[in-house]
Amino acid sequence: MENISISSITSVSDNLFKLLLDADPSKNIVQSYLKRAYKFIALFKGAPVGIVLLIDTRPETIEIINIAVSKDYRNQGIGGKLLEYSIKWAKSKKYRVIEIGTGSTSFGQLYLYQKYGFRPVSIDRDFFVTHYPHRIIENKLVLKDMVRLQQYLF
Ligand code: ACO
Repeated sequence: MENISISSITSVSDNLFKLLLDADPSKNIVQSYLKRAYKFIALFKGAPVGIVLLIDTRPETIEIINIAVSKDYRNQGIGGKLLEYSIKWAKSKKYRVIEIGTGSTSFGQLYLYQKYGFRPVSIDRDFFVTHYPHRIIENKLVLKDMVRLQQYLF
């Protein structure tokens, strides 16, 4: 989709907070990283239609901790634009590694992240069982494990 611009923000509206919950269903967990995250939104005709949050993890390493696009705007390339922007931004800030994690049952997301150059590096076994109070069912499977992916920036 053309006419998408991306800009940095410092705080999120209630609507954007709700959108973050599409990517991460735990309010508590989202709140735990929201303040310290670098935040960017995708705007279409002046209205936010997507968001990406990045946090510092280890030295020279940044993680895309949350990425979400409003339901009506999905599958039009906005998620890809947010990923591309995040990668370019991280390069410009001289990070060496960019990471992203997603559920082992999140097949669409796993496809998308690999399309943008991320490669699986490890499995966080039982991550969703340990950190989330409710069972998550996705693609007719119980979500248990997190797949961690990364790419080198230099
Ligand atoms: N189901 C099926 N396919 C998907 C899915 C999905 N849930 N997510 C991505 N894809 C695939 C599509 O098949 C499509 O393929 P294409 O290359 O043939 O077009 C492509 O990925 C979509 O690419 P975009 O249009 O660039 O991405 P989009 O704007 O739809 O944004 C996003 C992708 C952010 C994952 C969106 O679907 C979304 O908000 N989902 C709900 C929240 C979510 O799951 N966020 C990620 C959680 S992990 C994390 O936050 C670190």
